Amino acid sequence: MADNRPIIESLRPGSDEDWLIVAGDVAELSDDIEWALRLLAGRFAKVIWTPGNHELWTPREDPVQLRGAERYAHLVARCRELGVVTPEDPYPVWRGPGGPAAIAPVFTLYDYSFRAPGLTVEQSLQQADEAGIVCTDEFLLHNWPYPSRADWCRARVAETERRLAAHDPDIPLVLVSHWPLLREPTRALWRQEFAQWCGTELTERWHRDHRTEAVVYGHLHIPRTTWHDGVRFEEVSVGYPREWRRRGHPRGLLRQILPAPQAPVDGDRSVVRLGAASS
Ligand SMILES: [Fe+2]
Repeated sequence: MADNRPIIESLRPGSDEDWLIVAGDVAELSDDIEWALRLLAGRFAKVIWTPGNHELWTPREDPVQLRGAERYAHLVARCRELGVVTPEDPYPVWRGPGGPAAIAPVFTLYDYSFRAPGLTVEQSLQQADEAGIVCTDEFLLHNWPYPSRADWCRARVAETERRLAAHDPDIPLVLVSHWPLLREPTRALWRQEFAQWCGTELTERWHRDHRTEAVVYGHLHIPRTTWHDGVRFEEVSVGYPREWRRRGHPRGLLRQILPAPQAPVDGDRSVVRLGAASS
């Protein structure tokens, strides 16, 4: 969004050692995605990115018309040229304050398991449609070469579980996903019909099964800190202009992930070490 551009331009590290987590939904057009990540990669010592649904759209006006997994692979290749860490790379280990912690960007999408209870996927989508709620993903987020987005999600989950199982358990993880890893945070959505586009039950144990220092996510546009099974979950959305014009940036633009903030409550977090942002 054009009005979010000055926000990206304003993001600066608090020190030369700061890393930045970018938890997805940077932009929709490939040139805009690359512009933002290039700018941030030039400022922060390391940038870690995981895709949101918006990067994975194939808008008609984008010169890059690749779809689904091919578009994702293209974005990963562009990130590597910029030195940006992706879900396809080894997890970098933060050894600054609050470390060591391996920063694990994960890309798992959704499989509609957060749908309305008791309904099939088709019934749940129909019910949402009748309520006027349809995620644009249904039109622009292609699942090629998988039969469905749910199949792509399951393949991503299986591959990510393999990576997490191979991780050294002595080094705690910061799990970074655009979509929340468990359903509970979606209970705060104004429209519950939207939850089915927000994640998968397949990831709901990851923060318990692996030694997890924190979970970072976005997508819900409800910036806040919640605790689940003793693990800190940080929703780091910046939000659409219409959202931040109404509510401001009560948690600051950059959120401190490590070292863990002394008091995980709303307040000025403008000084960051390992920070995070998502739109
Ligand atoms: Fe999103």
